[in-house]
Amino acid sequence: MSKKVDIEWSKLGFSYMKTDYRYLSKWKDGQWDDGALVEDNDLSISEASTALHYGQQCFEGMKAYRRKDGKIQLFRPDQNAKRINKSCERILMPQIPEEKFIDAVKQVVKANEHFVPPYGSGATLYLRPFVIGVGHNLGVRPAPEYIFSIFAVPVGPYFKGGLKPVNFMTSPYDRAATYGTGAAKVGGNYAGSLYPNKIAKDKGFADAIYLDPATHTKIEEVGAANFFGITHDDKFITPDSPSILPSITKYSLLHVAKEYLNLEVEERDVLVDNLDEFKEAGACGTAAVITPIGGIQHKDDFHVFHSETEVGPITRKLYDTLYNIQFGDDEAPEGWIV
Ligand code: COI
Repeated sequence: MSKKVDIEWSKLGFSYMKTDYRYLSKWKDGQWDDGALVEDNDLSISEASTALHYGQQCFEGMKAYRRKDGKIQLFRPDQNAKRINKSCERILMPQIPEEKFIDAVKQVVKANEHFVPPYGSGATLYLRPFVIGVGHNLGVRPAPEYIFSIFAVPVGPYFKGGLKPVNFMTSPYDRAATYGTGAAKVGGNYAGSLYPNKIAKDKGFADAIYLDPATHTKIEEVGAANFFGITHDDKFITPDSPSILPSITKYSLLHVAKEYLNLEVEERDVLVDNLDEFKEAGACGTAAVITPIGGIQHKDDFHVFHSETEVGPITRKLYDTLYNIQFGDDEAPEGWIV
């Protein structure tokens, strides 16, 4: 590590800070340019950009981890490349070749190496790839030009306290329609979650839980993360729905639960009126990692899972196993680590 930065790594939360370099590539006339690292963290774009008016933009969240031997590793970056391309496809933005995506991620991590938190701090370097429609355009149609960029920020836990149970409330509002853009990582889904999030926070909850938009009877997402529950007979259950964002952490946990913890796993409906079937529950995602759910307020009912203050034993095992894989302490399934 050449440069040093003055950061209290263990005190980091999930907030923006400017790091030294970001990657920027432009698409015009049917192709991406080579892209380059730049120092300026402000973008100058047309006032008529589709990203500003019609929400033609998408993003990813991924992390770089410092291992015990000081080296840095990425967790399943190919999955982020695939998912950003699915998001791009859904809103008619150009595809990014997987090698270009992964090479750009590596460039950003290397250029900001001194911002990758030390092993043992629990903190990571969060990477935010995004694609926006730019150029001059007025009607509702795809943009004439695009920008693909990735910036990096050192982060700690998304929810205060890290591996500590937090409480949620179900939202009367939806984040996405059944066959809308819920499965794409587009900003509109998150804009729609700001108000329900505020309502939840004002009432003392960490965030809102979204139910299926058609019937409001099934759990879909937990704030900006996916849901999982552990049944009394030790099954790892996570909801299945066309409007859920396919979380890479959730699919990794399905594998970890089955192959490392020998649990039965299932993606299926989770009825909000049948939370008694679970002895533990949690939120999972890149930013949230695994956040235990203490309780869920639904209408007049407050349902507590394992405990409002203690982490359940299976949730802890899932967390430890995933953490050890991500930080290089445990052997990862083939192809997961770069
Ligand atoms: C992530 O988990 O990386 C996300 O993208 C959630 C985020 C909106 C904070």
